[in-house]
Amino acid sequence: MAPDPIYLDYNATTPIDPGVAEAMLPFLHRHFGNPSSSHAYGITAAQAVSAARLQVADLLHAKPDEIVFTSGGTESNNMVIQGLAWRLASQGRHIITSLVEHPAVMEPCYSLERRGFCVSYLPVDGKGRVDPETVSSAITSETILITIMHANNEVGAIQPIAEIAAVAREHGVLLHTDAAQSVGKIPTRADELGVDFLSLAGHKLYAPKGIGALYIRSGRHLDRLIHGASHESGRRAGTENVLGIVGLGKACELAAERLEGGHGHSQALRDRLWEGLHGQLPDLRRNGDPETCLPNTLSVSFRGVDAATLLAEIGDRVAASAGAACHAEGVELSAVVAAMQIPMDYAMGTVRFSVGRPTTEAEVDTAVQVVSEAVQRLREVASPTR
Ligand SMILES: Cc1ncc(COP(=O)(O)O)c(C=O)c1O
Repeated sequence: MAPDPIYLDYNATTPIDPGVAEAMLPFLHRHFGNPSSSHAYGITAAQAVSAARLQVADLLHAKPDEIVFTSGGTESNNMVIQGLAWRLASQGRHIITSLVEHPAVMEPCYSLERRGFCVSYLPVDGKGRVDPETVSSAITSETILITIMHANNEVGAIQPIAEIAAVAREHGVLLHTDAAQSVGKIPTRADELGVDFLSLAGHKLYAPKGIGALYIRSGRHLDRLIHGASHESGRRAGTENVLGIVGLGKACELAAERLEGGHGHSQALRDRLWEGLHGQLPDLRRNGDPETCLPNTLSVSFRGVDAATLLAEIGDRVAASAGAACHAEGVELSAVVAAMQIPMDYAMGTVRFSVGRPTTEAEVDTAVQVVSEAVQRLREVASPTR
């Protein structure tokens, strides 16, 4: 049997950490109680949910009652954007976001636009970053929410959230950050970031899929998105996903321990990957600024190569993601690649590599070889005289 392809797509999702799986196991079998039940089974489940809430809160330097468990990043983002829009609609109907947000932010914004809200989509610079000055200029007396992601999923650009928070505070506007990609990879202290709301997604930090959380600063309130019983202090109805919650709690505890040790492992491997590719191939560019980029993320544009064709070419050896797709009608760039104004002959060949805890030097070296050979082959086919 052929070996599994080398996985370099940890921004798409991560495997469940063995320590997380171990913590979850008893909740798969023995501890199946409903946390709302008053008997021993329920009490065990409720205690596990409380312990996990504390673990998540600790990672964010927040209070446990500021954490609401959700089904993931998408739900957390929707809870804030829609929940706040409807709560504050009588005060104003303007929201500020950026052009490089994940669809889990863009789509609720588009939906609100269709219902009479006005949304400003701020541009980014060549590093993929929003300028806090631009945020300041976009604020009007109608603005009720600024939602800017902490770190970008495609190029890894880390936004100046603390500076944007200062702007938001100055104007008395609430600030949300989608931290699905940053939690567990870089420090995400809610107090340091100065945000009112922060979304996180379990499956990006070695917890299972379908679990996430929303940080809601004390004193901030949202209209409910999901109506039902009074779970999560009346903020999100539905019997708790105890198994996922236990996993997320453990994942946050492990992430906090690892963050204390710095992020040398991923950064070293990410840089090794770039140096390897750069050493082997001409005509490629690294997107974003390594100084303000997630330590595990490398976005590379290979000139004159179609990203989807390249990924198909290497698919049985290396798994990564494309930032552009070629259709019969032409090349469709991802919104992020387009917003960063990467020149077209490079943009169409944009690939995201993201390393993770299990990644090894040997995997990176093999990936460099496989990708370089494939790029050379594709360039040869495209332009045999080159
Ligand atoms: C930045 C960002 N926000 C939100 C999400 C959505 O999270 P989930 O898959 O948990 O709904 C993702 C997942 O790709 C993401 O990268």
